[in-house]
Amino acid sequence: MGKNIVLIGFMGTGKSSVGQRLAEKLKMKFVDMDREIEKITGLPISQLFRKHGEIRFRSEEKLLAQKLSCESNLVIATGGGVVLSQENIEALRENGILICLEASAEEILKRINRKKGSRPLLKKEIGEKDIKLMLEARETFYACTDFRIDTDNKEPRMVVEEITRRLR
Ligand code: S3P
Repeated sequence: MGKNIVLIGFMGTGKSSVGQRLAEKLKMKFVDMDREIEKITGLPISQLFRKHGEIRFRSEEKLLAQKLSCESNLVIATGGGVVLSQENIEALRENGILICLEASAEEILKRINRKKGSRPLLKKEIGEKDIKLMLEARETFYACTDFRIDTDNKEPRMVVEEITRRLR
């Protein structure tokens, strides 16, 4: 049973764009957890938060992490907060290699500014300082991974190459 490759990391670290390309390269199936939750609930993430709250989103996230832990040969892009639950980490680790994608607050800010409306946890006027604080608060949660990749100033394809090199 081939292990899943699970991409973890803060918003804007490139989990989805890297994950998609990595799956293509390794000929594995790609699963983007946020997109799956949107399919399951029939709501975009921002609306799910607005209508039913973060608690409902986290419970969908947990159910999905449990389901995916029973599958194999997947590249999984998680949502940035999946690591906030120890149960999720344990589930994803059951049959998965956990890889943390990292980026500096400055780079994250540049990237998320392009897609801010779809991220309910980010306020409109967010700045580098806010990102730094959020990164600090989550630092210990992201430390659970098998290895970390710095994505600053790297195109997704370069990150994919680095991951495949590390996996060998
Ligand atoms: C979240 C990150 C988002 C999404 C949700 C919560 C978080 O995913 O799951 O808005 O808690 O960091 P991305 O990391 O893909 O933006």
